[in-house]
Amino acid sequence: MWAYMTLKLVDKPFPTYDASRDYEWNYSHPPRLDHSVATLNSDCPGRWTYAGLEAASPLAIAAGPLLNSQWLLYYASLGFDILTYKTVRRRAWGCYPMPNLVPVASQSLFSSVSEVRAQTVMRDSWAVSFGMPSRSPDVWRPDLSRCRQQLAPHQILAASVVATPESSTTPVGLAEDYAQCADWARQSGADVVELNFSCPNVATCDGQLYQQLDLAQGVLETVRAKLGPYPLLVKLGAMQAPDQVVGWIDLARTVQAGLVMINCLGAKVRVEDASSQNFYFSGTPRGIAGHATAQAVAEQFKQFAQQRKSECLSPPLIPVGGIAEASQVRTYLKGGAEAVQVATMAMLNPKWAMQIKAALAAQPC
Ligand SMILES: Cc1cc2nc3c(=O)[nH]c(=O)nc-3n(C[C@H](O)[C@H](O)[C@H](O)COP(=O)(O)O)c2cc1C
Repeated sequence: MWAYMTLKLVDKPFPTYDASRDYEWNYSHPPRLDHSVATLNSDCPGRWTYAGLEAASPLAIAAGPLLNSQWLLYYASLGFDILTYKTVRRRAWGCYPMPNLVPVASQSLFSSVSEVRAQTVMRDSWAVSFGMPSRSPDVWRPDLSRCRQQLAPHQILAASVVATPESSTTPVGLAEDYAQCADWARQSGADVVELNFSCPNVATCDGQLYQQLDLAQGVLETVRAKLGPYPLLVKLGAMQAPDQVVGWIDLARTVQAGLVMINCLGAKVRVEDASSQNFYFSGTPRGIAGHATAQAVAEQFKQFAQQRKSECLSPPLIPVGGIAEASQVRTYLKGGAEAVQVATMAMLNPKWAMQIKAALAAQPC
């Protein structure tokens, strides 16, 4: 059991990502914690693991909201015990231009839905358009190390990594790129590495790797050979066919990796004005996150959990997408999830982990 500092649930709003400003501004303006309101918070009842490591709760922040160590430490002080450093690369990579976050209608989306209507006000769903920006390893590696040093021992530091292929990159080169980034993250103190095999915002193979099982297998074998026994997760996108579920459960077992699902749903974003035919992002799709994806994530998770059960296999499964309520967290945990990840809710409500812990304590799974 762990005891740790969190905040009193005071009315004062807690700072969070400012979607009206660009990525660079948010990177260099991490929220600060007001320690004057700090008080002791209760534990999360139960025994939890994350990628096989002992964890204080089943609540993780997904890759995205935590741009650097300062962001990560802020959320760690708000009751999140598992924190993922936003996806990094083997070289510096720029962010897409503003807008990076466009609110969209909260109707349920499925992988077959190709467009969604933008909204003027953020309710619970948005289109995400960052393009996986990264500082150079000279910056993110020491930043990860600092972060690990400042986190409490029970808090888990995960690092999301992605390869940066060029037109001439071979499958071997792609695998080596992933393996290099994963190894740097491990050496820099990450407790868990998450390989991002899905990003609906990018058209290159790093964004769609989860759909190319043979290529993904080569990458995973190379990463596993480089890392040895070490907690490894793979982030997947929306599956198109049942045989992909079978293939992924089998591959995850072989390489001993957990599966995180799903990295948004791709859709074009039609402008707010109902009479307009115009689209954001020049009509190219972006990843939709938040409530609109909740049903699709639940469906995919169920398919994976059933397949895992039917084969008596045990790769850890971690759902992400549209998780907001304690009831959803309970349903996933009862359904066999090792933990859950949130991005949107952590940004809309930084007190989310504390509130869900209180709810889980009042009504355990
Ligand atoms: C602001 C923001 C940035 C994100 N950046 C990344 C990223 O760098 N790497 C990644 O794998 N997923 C990224 N995502 C996707 C999230 O990890 C998550 O899969 C998605 O948002 C669905 O979860 P949610 O509904 O709780 O937001 C990002 C999401 C948001 C909202």
